[in-house]
Amino acid sequence: MNDMIHTPTGDASADVAAYLQQHETKSLLRFITCGSVDDGKSTLIGRLLHDTKLLLDDQLAALESDSRRHGTQGDQIDFALLVDGLAAEREQGITIDVAYRFFGTDKRKFIVADCPGHEQYTRNMVTGASTADLAIVLVDARKGLLTQTRRHSYIVSLLGIRRVVLAINKMDLVGYDQGVFDDIAGGYAMLAERLGIEHVQCIPLSALKGDNMLSASPNTPWYDGPSLLQYLETVEASRDHRIAGFRLPVQWVNRPNQDFRGFAGTVVADAIDVGQEIAVLPSGQRSKIARIVTADGDLPRAVPGQAVTLTLADEIDASRGDVIAAASNPPETADQFAAHLIWMGGQPLLPGRPYWLKIGSRTVGAQVTEIKHKVDVNTQDHLAAKHLELNEVAYCNIHLDQPVAFEKYADNRELGAFILIDRQSNGTVGAGTLDFALRRAGNIHWQHVDVDKAARARIKHQQPRCLWFTGLSGSGKSTIANLVEKRLLAMGRHTYLLDGDNIRHGLNKDLGFTDEDRVENIRRVAEVAKLMVDAGLIVLVSFISPFRAERRMARELFAEGEFLEVFVDTPLEVAEQRDVKGLYAKARAGQIKNFTGIDSPYETPENAEIVLETIRNGPDQLAEFVVERIY
Ligand code: ADX
Repeated sequence: MNDMIHTPTGDASADVAAYLQQHETKSLLRFITCGSVDDGKSTLIGRLLHDTKLLLDDQLAALESDSRRHGTQGDQIDFALLVDGLAAEREQGITIDVAYRFFGTDKRKFIVADCPGHEQYTRNMVTGASTADLAIVLVDARKGLLTQTRRHSYIVSLLGIRRVVLAINKMDLVGYDQGVFDDIAGGYAMLAERLGIEHVQCIPLSALKGDNMLSASPNTPWYDGPSLLQYLETVEASRDHRIAGFRLPVQWVNRPNQDFRGFAGTVVADAIDVGQEIAVLPSGQRSKIARIVTADGDLPRAVPGQAVTLTLADEIDASRGDVIAAASNPPETADQFAAHLIWMGGQPLLPGRPYWLKIGSRTVGAQVTEIKHKVDVNTQDHLAAKHLELNEVAYCNIHLDQPVAFEKYADNRELGAFILIDRQSNGTVGAGTLDFALRRAGNIHWQHVDVDKAARARIKHQQPRCLWFTGLSGSGKSTIANLVEKRLLAMGRHTYLLDGDNIRHGLNKDLGFTDEDRVENIRRVAEVAKLMVDAGLIVLVSFISPFRAERRMARELFAEGEFLEVFVDTPLEVAEQRDVKGLYAKARAGQIKNFTGIDSPYETPENAEIVLETIRNGPDQLAEFVVERIY
């Protein structure tokens, strides 16, 4: 679409400076365009840019550094995404295909996030929409409302955009028929109401011919609303910030020497003055702002969008990820939430699997504990779900390893939006918005008991351990674990063997062999093993435990050195040939579904403490080897 854009002639940086000066006092509207190339999106944006005498994409970089250098306060062209979590994607080097285009008229300036419509569309759209005040949803007048219109509108509403322009494009191809327009507009009004999109402006357009783009078209005398540009120029730009109170997520602690300690970050809500009282979350410690330091000297006041370093009147221990907030109205802290989630991972989301969650500048361990329902974006119906696939949206309960400061997304986008990051690949796999803290989170406290693990271990004269045997079905895990336990018992050790088949007769008898059930299977047995280690026992766990993520989850429940992963390394061909229980034969015959190694994966351990090669050594020898390793 670059060929639609006129190149301003002359020196770019001089143009930029002139442009900025000219536009300094104007309000800014950020919007996103949703639709596919077929709907005429490129033509629409191209025409807007073209007709409003824009700047070139490749000047954006110059524009940005220029605005910083000139310190044009209040006119910071902040391309950094407001949802810092999403900015993390860029830190991780993941390409997001969102082009931010900057243009202006003599009434207003605009940033449009343009997301191309390929298969990663949802991710791009979430990125673009997270900073937008308004969305233009394009439809082709000949086609009307499509699944993707509904999907886009759903995401728009989920991300808190309350204003939509329904651009009913290609009106020239339906003879500028008012009936067509009214039908589509009527259908959309119903959808918008269901989604809670409060303001909808439907505009009959031909982006190609220019009808109703800049001014009223003579071809639609029946339409008395604004043209697209008139609407964009006059619509109220601000989002509702329902929370009053200063907020600054700490990006890093600036400590160049003993005498100076400052907390650096960008103000995300409300202003603060030197001397004002603040609270540091989640710890809740209070102090006063001593100085507001910037590269250009100290300021008496910091305002939203500004990057500053704050020093405090008291020695307070704050670190990256904490939030400095107005003491009079601090955000809540919690570790369990109800949240909306959009899944963008290639692998499905599995409840119970550990991910990283990034909110503001804090990253913590997180699990989806329950999928309340997923949403059919076409019908808004709530559907039951055990896992989420790429592009699916759901309402979930999320549990964090530590409390974080947060606000409902509806109140504060910066402290209410999060991303989920895969712990193996470090890729962003989900984005979501926090709805509310689950009340039980604050009502349950850890109860102190006087007899501890060390005391229990002492009277057993042993060091508690968890020996975690993993390997294919029929690999020999249970046989070897059994021999190890016998040897330990003979040595006077206190032990317990948790065997997959046995635990599936009791505690885990409600679980099958889907991926999500296996995750839950391992989560439960890992928790049980942890309790047994806490009781002072040497615990042997013998479960296939096919996924790295869950073996890692188990490992992380234990203290350093307490957990030993024992990989019972038997090649699939060998296990299948032995087929002690006859299960491989059944699986090959299609009588058992999701059988590990056949039609369900086994992820080979990468850093097991002990590897037992069963084709080289017999079970007694291997059991002996394990015992020697721990004593
Ligand atoms: S795990 O994958 O969730 O860790 P677990 O160790 O509890 O599995 O149970 C595995 C045992 O269940 C196997 O040893 C086998 O006897 C039996 N089994 C029945 N169906 C399956 C299946 N589809 N996949 C693997 N094992 C199965």
